[in-house]
Amino acid sequence: MKSHHFISAVALLFSSQLFAQSGLVAADTHTIPQLQVKERDAFITQLMSKMTLTEKIGQLNLVSVGPDNPKEKIMADIRADKVGGVFNTVTKHDIRQMQDQVQYSRLKIPPFYAYDVVHGQRTIFPISLGLASSWDMNAVATSARISAEETAADGLNMTFSPMVDITRDPRWGRVSEGFGEDTYLTSRLAFEMVKAYQGNDPSRPDSVMANVKHYALYGAAEGGRDYNTVDMSLTRMFNDYMPPYKAALDAGAGGVMVALNSVNGIPATSNSWLLKDILRDQWKFHGLTVSDHGAIGGLVKHGVAENDRQAAAMALKSGVDMDMADNMYGQYLAGLLKDGLVSQQDIDRAVRDVLTAKWDMGLFIDPYRHLGAASTDPVDTNAESRLHRAEAREVARASQVLLKNDNHTLPLQKKGTIALIGALANSQRDMMGSWSAAGVAKQSVTLLQGMKDVIGNKATILYARGSNIIDDKAIYDYLNSYEKQVFNDPRTPQQMIDEAVKTAQKADVIVAVVGESQGMAHEASSRADISIPQPQQDLLKALKATGKPLVLVLMNGRPLTLPWENQIADAMLETWFSGTEGGHAIADVLFGDYNPSGKLPMTFPRAVGQIPLYNSVLNTGRPFNPQKPDKYTSRYFDMTNGPLFPFGYGLSYTQFSVSDIHMSATTLAKTGDVKASVMVKNTGKVAGATVVQLYMQDVTASISRPVKELKNFEKVYLAPGEEKLVTFTINERDCRFFNNQLKWASEAGKFNVFVGLDSQDLKENSFLLL
Ligand code: BGC
Repeated sequence: MKSHHFISAVALLFSSQLFAQSGLVAADTHTIPQLQVKERDAFITQLMSKMTLTEKIGQLNLVSVGPDNPKEKIMADIRADKVGGVFNTVTKHDIRQMQDQVQYSRLKIPPFYAYDVVHGQRTIFPISLGLASSWDMNAVATSARISAEETAADGLNMTFSPMVDITRDPRWGRVSEGFGEDTYLTSRLAFEMVKAYQGNDPSRPDSVMANVKHYALYGAAEGGRDYNTVDMSLTRMFNDYMPPYKAALDAGAGGVMVALNSVNGIPATSNSWLLKDILRDQWKFHGLTVSDHGAIGGLVKHGVAENDRQAAAMALKSGVDMDMADNMYGQYLAGLLKDGLVSQQDIDRAVRDVLTAKWDMGLFIDPYRHLGAASTDPVDTNAESRLHRAEAREVARASQVLLKNDNHTLPLQKKGTIALIGALANSQRDMMGSWSAAGVAKQSVTLLQGMKDVIGNKATILYARGSNIIDDKAIYDYLNSYEKQVFNDPRTPQQMIDEAVKTAQKADVIVAVVGESQGMAHEASSRADISIPQPQQDLLKALKATGKPLVLVLMNGRPLTLPWENQIADAMLETWFSGTEGGHAIADVLFGDYNPSGKLPMTFPRAVGQIPLYNSVLNTGRPFNPQKPDKYTSRYFDMTNGPLFPFGYGLSYTQFSVSDIHMSATTLAKTGDVKASVMVKNTGKVAGATVVQLYMQDVTASISRPVKELKNFEKVYLAPGEEKLVTFTINERDCRFFNNQLKWASEAGKFNVFVGLDSQDLKENSFLLL
């Protein structure tokens, strides 16, 4: 029997006609024809009737390949029907070896294979915060589609992505993985990503199932300290934090990863209100839930379970189907069932979800669904030919945000001498960002390389490192504690600065690349101080003293506090971590081959003390008015109030004008719509794109509503002198919110409408909801 062609014994229970039809099964059970759902459910019922308890519990085991659990051990476990899914393995060769074991198991139920494909698999795209900065749904969909194709081509079936946690605290390192602070923008991106990953059918040879994470509210960890407590009002939860998860499910996401944090005192992993009442009963989710890494054992530390055994019972009963990496179900469920502490229904429900997901992945039609024949395995997994460089460059260009540009410092002229300074300018690893482990750092383009490639011999690029990213020994050791992430030059800080200053003195302009190493904006990478680390600030001081024009290129995974840098720099470009083609993309922007059009998806505060600082705040009873500052208002007295750069902000090499808002009517009936239109004009000399943003405020309602909430946006491309009418259609649904009874409803009254090119520079009008 040729292993890659075998159909499992269970599959043979059913007619060939069924398998022909099942190839059409989509992940979104809402869109699967009823007949196919029936066939699938019947198939699974029959399969489950043949399964022993051990085999059932095996299906709930999601195992990580690693030193503690090597491939050989997993292969033996697969033969013994003890594995439901495997993650942290990324080559066809390894996955095939594991999948080949299925034929030796009793029921031949194939495991699925998952990985954290967050912003690319082999080709690395900008980190998610960068993707969000593009406000370009096509660019984001392109990145996710290519990610899916490359992931499927590696034999994988599922990605633990998208990460759609709303993030309003830049101290949290994981803001880099999400789409920022805004509910509407994040929800749109969540939807697009899932559609692009799954292509409506995760069983397609070039699709993967999306497992949205981290449900719920992980981004609201107190103080931005990773894994920390979340305590939140229900209205905020439903209005601001829950919609992105729901959007991912509406797009058909087949899986949900349960968050590590507690929510109002109850860990998500044992939170049946979240996992059953909301997810299953209200939202009608029929897919798979998986715990996060070791989260079931974590229930003991949370202080809600006395021991691991009790934790396993709690997680299962609360609605966690699969146990990631801590084998709590494997160890305890059989005993718990015997003692009546979990029921057969609890186990069966979870097993059914796992098997349903596998059906939806096409694994019962062919366990080698994504693997294909061994003869198709790439000779070199990391072959250059497997990359999608052109698309990566395009998406990375769209993700850059121009924060400052005095005296047209940018774009740089393609002549003369440019001093490129900074450790980050020549770091292939950092360009990739976190969660990029299947990408190969050596294949990424640094800014040094990118500038050289773009400029050819038209200008001279002189490079000096200038400083280490960080010098602090304790931080250095922390960042390198699990893997070598930061490399420090053994020279003294002064030696490096001297070299950089000498280099700068020979140049017409300085481009200083500063920020964070990729490992500083990651899981377990919370910072209490989000400024540019000291050695790089010392370097900037010395560079500034040369009197040469100073361009700052920022590489970082979170908003940073940059008030001083903003004062000394002539221009600043936020590039995040731009991925495989980052160096080319940034060089394209610096030299004006691409006009930047990104907008910030997260507010940049002036100081850590202002956090949380975000756009859609409530007004308070004593709002601060910058035009008429007063003492007894909601403010800080020791610094300028408000952000350094607001949500939605970003400049261009051209200028745009926005007309006053024209409303098609002054009232909105519950069944009709009202249109808000502006004329947007490119008043500058070069072609460019900008994002026209619509915000709304429900002026008086039964609960305080935000001063402005993003409700829609449109990215427009305009030639010099060109103008375009941008029209937003508003209907009653746009006016709804979750009220104190958690009912999603609108309330009649006045709504303010704002349109502009960032969240602070806005035109205003209004209408009355009848
Ligand atoms: C992270 C998840 C990730 C999982 C598997 C956990 O530590 O919180 O986001 O999907 O590991 O790698």
